[in-house]
Amino acid sequence: MGIMLPHEGMPVDDVLDQLRAKRTRDVDWAAGRTFGMVYDGGPSVHEVAERTALEFLHENALNTKAFPSLGAVQSEVVRWTAGLFHGPDTASGFLTSGGTESILCAVLAARERGKAERGVTRPEMVIAESAHAAFHKAAHLFGVTVHKTKVRADWTADVDEMAAAVNDRTVLVVGSAPQYPQGVIDPIPAIAALAASVGASCHVDACMGGFVLPFAEMLGRDVPPWDFRVPGVTSISADVHKLGYAPKGVSVILYTSPELRAHQTFVFDDWLGGFYASPNLQGTRPGAPMAMGWAVMRHLGVEGYLRLTADALDTADRMRAAVASVDGIRVLGEGRYHLVAIAADDQAHHGPIDVFALGDALLAKGWFHDRQAPPESLHSTVSHGNAAVIDDWVAALEQSVAEVRGTRTDDRSTNYATLE
Ligand SMILES: Cc1ncc(COP(=O)(O)O)c(C=O)c1O
Repeated sequence: MGIMLPHEGMPVDDVLDQLRAKRTRDVDWAAGRTFGMVYDGGPSVHEVAERTALEFLHENALNTKAFPSLGAVQSEVVRWTAGLFHGPDTASGFLTSGGTESILCAVLAARERGKAERGVTRPEMVIAESAHAAFHKAAHLFGVTVHKTKVRADWTADVDEMAAAVNDRTVLVVGSAPQYPQGVIDPIPAIAALAASVGASCHVDACMGGFVLPFAEMLGRDVPPWDFRVPGVTSISADVHKLGYAPKGVSVILYTSPELRAHQTFVFDDWLGGFYASPNLQGTRPGAPMAMGWAVMRHLGVEGYLRLTADALDTADRMRAAVASVDGIRVLGEGRYHLVAIAADDQAHHGPIDVFALGDALLAKGWFHDRQAPPESLHSTVSHGNAAVIDDWVAALEQSVAEVRGTRTDDRSTNYATLE
């Protein structure tokens, strides 16, 4: 028999002590040394999120008739986000639990739309090899065949390859703004035109970029077309819990119209419990993440996001410059935003550095980067939270490169996520 839940309960303080004891090997994200997973907007963002969480900890958005507050929270966050993305007045959406759920909803909606409008019974979708793994999960769950196409030398989706994979069963063509691995933006106008040419949906995965690109554009940075201003884009996903700086559990899925949105919802009235209408993939929906998303967005306003975005982008620029000045490593692609992938430089004067050995050396100094492949590289999602310590990172990078030059680790594993 496994471990049984103890018969006797435990006092609150002891429970918390035990939980804290489990955290000794967790990354120290609050120190700004973790490039991913937790995006720190600073003390006032923590305060507004934490106080909101306490207020809404027990609420359930399963039925917004019982909690109209959460219905209002949802529609306001959706409207604000649609505004940032230049959506039409008809733009409609929902909150979900995260990027993966938003993507699952978009794929499901595209499948259902293809069936309803074009009679497609064996749906297919076309995605670049750089598209997030969540699209493959969606294809697996919803019975959609994936055509995975190559990226070009600059890591953006190759639209000629995508065009060759599109056919009359295509229900969805995907672009990312930006894609996760190298942080570059796909050619969204060409991808959207391709989707429209066969009557398919075009989803833009802006889970990473949705709360960066609008502000980068306002800051005068060069941002190629990616949002609802591009004809043919039918849906966009954007994560409030990433660079929107809210704690985990909240993302937005947007469509150009309520009719397109209706393809993702599920309604059912043939059991003993009454009319059941489910907007996304959840049943019971925790109110706290939704309310925290609203609170953080309202607290920051455009002004706050401009400040945090400038910090994140300047920090990422500093990292790119530091990598360029060190012999043996290079940045993959012309990423200009908040994602930085560091790889070995085969052209290096003193030979390439093993970036996984470099990742281990940085980790030993307390700096956490995800390892990814192919090609083998260290991934960084850079946020405001990393800004204050970036000079220390540059020093640690230079020192770590010196330590690992000429060495190689046997551990070639790449873990984006884990099963247990
Ligand atoms: C581009 C992109 N899409 C989707 C996701 C999935 O988001 P989540 O981890 O919130 O499910 C990520 C996560 O990093 C991402 O970078």
